[in-house]
Amino acid sequence: MKTVSKYIAVFGCLFLTIGSAHSQQDVQTFKSVFKDKFYVGVAINRQQAMGVDKKEQDLIKQYYNCISPENDLKWENIHPAEGTYNFRPADAYVEFGKQSGMFIIGHTLVWHSQTPDWVFKDAKGNDLTREALLARMKDHIETVMHRYKGIIKGWDVVNEALNEDGSLRNSKWRTIIGDDYIEKAFEYAHAADPHAELYYNDYNLNQSEKRSGAIEIVQQLKQKGLPIKAVGEQAHYSLWHGTDKEVEALIRDFINVGIVVNFTEFDISVLPDKGASTTADVANTAKYEERLNPYTAGLPTDVQQQLADRYGNIFKLFVKYSDNIDRVTFWGLSDRNTWLNNWPIRGRTNYPLPFSRDLSLKKDVVAKILQAAK
Ligand code: GLA
Repeated sequence: MKTVSKYIAVFGCLFLTIGSAHSQQDVQTFKSVFKDKFYVGVAINRQQAMGVDKKEQDLIKQYYNCISPENDLKWENIHPAEGTYNFRPADAYVEFGKQSGMFIIGHTLVWHSQTPDWVFKDAKGNDLTREALLARMKDHIETVMHRYKGIIKGWDVVNEALNEDGSLRNSKWRTIIGDDYIEKAFEYAHAADPHAELYYNDYNLNQSEKRSGAIEIVQQLKQKGLPIKAVGEQAHYSLWHGTDKEVEALIRDFINVGIVVNFTEFDISVLPDKGASTTADVANTAKYEERLNPYTAGLPTDVQQQLADRYGNIFKLFVKYSDNIDRVTFWGLSDRNTWLNNWPIRGRTNYPLPFSRDLSLKKDVVAKILQAAK
């Protein structure tokens, strides 16, 4: 009897070992099912880059083959004062990416937001001249890109230069330098790392008016012989906006002008909009009201089903047009730390991502996304 149970134990163990090795290999994740189509990326925060929670890093490595830095390569963090660069967090981000074999994205070089005021001012507090601001922009681009040359493979060179009607936003970059600040940024970036992919990144390109502005930027850069590899549509959508029809029209328009389109900050808010969040302008905020935060006790199954369907349908479009899409990146790993808990209204409980607050998978959402690959 003793021997028999020993045999059972040994066989049982063997079976379990083989079984688990097998299922490890067979686990289908975003990066495995879409690997012949496009990268699937995730924006990571500083704690994740530094490995504070090992489970988060494991999920990132298991599901994704590309990373973007949520904040640590933005000007205010990497270059907080004149002559002062703070590379430590960005170094950790890049190191994590290298060690885990990720396609590493740089986000972002030239943007009006999260850029300190000093960037645009001289020692007396007056606006810089065009030449002085160009010199500062060039120094920043060179310093940051040289440090990660050959390691960061793609850069959001300019972020959010457009108004909703497709005209150029009157940022300090534009008012001081002029409309050609975009060309200059691409020129400096290309010189700093000729092998890096360079992108123009913005939100709401699913709206045709705004998209026409992005197309103009692409055409002007191409006319000047400046290499732009792709346009990034941030894709901060919700259950109600960023419809399949709009997303398809967006992709087709970029195919027509001969430019790759990446989906670079994808998330789908499930909370009522109140108008504010149909634009991803970070300056566009609204006041907290309880009725705008209905799911503090959990996401109802039918709403999660809607989320799963939205993700599934949009991923089907990504697959259909995968020849013209290099990358789809989620803006954040899980609902625990999505920016949408605090924007456009602070302190809400949102559920926009494939992983829940406790890092468990939303099985129906993930299943719909994976099915889209077939
Ligand atoms: C914009 C920026 C991102 C990020 C999000 C909100 O989309 O491009 O870097 O700030 O807003 O997190």
